[in-house]
Amino acid sequence: MSNYHIKHLEEYYQVYRKSVREPEHFWEEIAEEHFMWQRKWDNVLSWDFSKPEVKWFEGAQLNITENCIDRHLATRGNKTAILFEPNDPKEEAELITYNQLHERVNRFANVLKNQGIKKGDRVCIYLPMIPELAISVLACARIGAIHSVVFAGFSATALSTRINDSDCKMVITSDGSYRGAKTIDLKGIVDDALEDCSCVKTVLVAKRIHSNINMKEGRDKWLKPLLEEASTDCKAEVMNAEDPLFILYTSGSTGMPKGMVHTTAGYMVYAAYTFKNVFQYKEDDVYWCTADIGWITGHSYIVYGPLANGATTVMFEGVPSYPDFGRFWEIVEKHKVNQFYTAPTAIRALAKEGLELVEKHDLSSLKVLGSVGEPINEEAWHWYNDNVGKKKSPIVDTWWQTETGGIMITPIPFVTPTKPTYATLPFIGIQPALMDENGKELKGNQVEGRLCVKFPWPSMARTIWGNHQRYKDTYFSAFENKYFTGDGALRDEVGYYRITGRVDDVIIVSGHNLGTAPIEDAVNEHPAVAESAIVGFPHDVKGNALYGYVILKDTGESRNHDNLRKEINQIITEHIGPIAKLDKIQFTSGLPKTRSGKIMRRILRKIAHKDTSNLGDTSTLLNPEVVNDIMDNVL
Ligand code: PRX
Repeated sequence: MSNYHIKHLEEYYQVYRKSVREPEHFWEEIAEEHFMWQRKWDNVLSWDFSKPEVKWFEGAQLNITENCIDRHLATRGNKTAILFEPNDPKEEAELITYNQLHERVNRFANVLKNQGIKKGDRVCIYLPMIPELAISVLACARIGAIHSVVFAGFSATALSTRINDSDCKMVITSDGSYRGAKTIDLKGIVDDALEDCSCVKTVLVAKRIHSNINMKEGRDKWLKPLLEEASTDCKAEVMNAEDPLFILYTSGSTGMPKGMVHTTAGYMVYAAYTFKNVFQYKEDDVYWCTADIGWITGHSYIVYGPLANGATTVMFEGVPSYPDFGRFWEIVEKHKVNQFYTAPTAIRALAKEGLELVEKHDLSSLKVLGSVGEPINEEAWHWYNDNVGKKKSPIVDTWWQTETGGIMITPIPFVTPTKPTYATLPFIGIQPALMDENGKELKGNQVEGRLCVKFPWPSMARTIWGNHQRYKDTYFSAFENKYFTGDGALRDEVGYYRITGRVDDVIIVSGHNLGTAPIEDAVNEHPAVAESAIVGFPHDVKGNALYGYVILKDTGESRNHDNLRKEINQIITEHIGPIAKLDKIQFTSGLPKTRSGKIMRRILRKIAHKDTSNLGDTSTLLNPEVVNDIMDNVL
């Protein structure tokens, strides 16, 4: 019997050891006993990190939607699969049973087919958090189309870059979206994006806000009539284990986002197995992850992981602050949520609003609390533990990435004793390594270094869409024969891991990954800007905020700095989205550079942190005099 559900610490250690000693045997048992296969694999794992190439369950055939939907129909047909909570609390929640989900996914899958979408085609999904988002994801998977969900907060430019990069044939969107008291013209953003995308032949439009939008003849089609006409019967496409399931873009250190490619079988097995254990999901529980399906957290832990376990998963359309900052707690009470998974930035924002809104609601249904996306600071951890969990619901601080597909380092609730700010122990099958700067692995405890993984796990991304070399360079070149995460971490005296933050040019703002290069590219588009450098600085709600150092072109004219700041942020909003706006913009005459012309970000970071007591060695700078100038004018 496989160890699908871990129940105590000794069992964790025992299963962990087994998963490391005999990984193939271990994962084979899990895959065999808990999933539905059309054909079993010939080989559990083949891998070579030097290429890099990783294949799990080669030769197997399956369809992930049969695992997430069809196989539950006999026993859970009338159980709620998706519980949709709308933006407006006065609008009724929608409960979609597994039977209904089956019918709706099949209809949608037939619409895709009728519109000419075939196995392997890329479909871009740009939707708010409404049921059509989860359903369209599953409909793509049903017919073997590769979905590329783009978070509906991204701008038209960001959207068109992503559509073009993976050559999407279709975009699925809505007339607009609700976000708190605001409405957003999503279709308008799609129209702007598509001016630059000749690959898109069809746009399917869901109605949500009933606004008056422009429908382009021949290209744009309302979804509803197509769904009504479509058959409710759609045979699941036979997929090979390593066929791509989806592409999801993440920021990198250059302007071009990286389209991480996840494949079918390994992703499914790992997302499902982690979900079951990390949230200790029991049959009648109501599970809620507050992320957006536009991010990996939503893919793995709103859609695929929960549904593969036959769970009830909540999808929330709105924001934590609407109609007031008690909304999350109101939803927990209303739907008797048992597992609640959110981001530290949300916890900090809610903590600021005081206890009254939390105490007003009955949170006694909660059993497990989760945190994801960025380090959770001690204060936020205690607030969450004391006031939301009432000290009885363990917090699982889950560390992972878009690239890893599933949770990698985490406590297992009621199994692993938690420790504030620590993601604690590697999940089953995960072999982390901490490396020093010379590429040597740091053995033993009480060490700190760069976080790598030295053995493949089933849900790791297999490549970057269209750019395997970049995949190799980014993740497999820094340390030989290891996957490099881009994060730093320490291992304490008992072997618990604490993630210390990014060690590259990615900054995590409110849990969103932002590469500095694309933001600098956007800033440099302003006609008055000669050069810019962006760093992060600590922010009490967002974790990090962005600080821009900007050199203006010398035109002889004087410019109003406040107006320039607004214009620069406007350009960033247009190119990337409002999440990438700069909190502070300092105009400066120069940037500290090495003799080879590289900006010394370390110094800029220290100045933005107001930590200038020890700037380190500045002797290698080409222009050391600018450092004092920048320090004197720091914001
Ligand atoms: O720096 C780590 C941070 O978020 C990065 C991954 O971001 P993304 O691909 O957007 O995925 C976020 C959701 C899985 C990581 O490299 N991060 C994520 N979770 C944690 C974290 N940092 C500290 N603690 C965490 N629990």
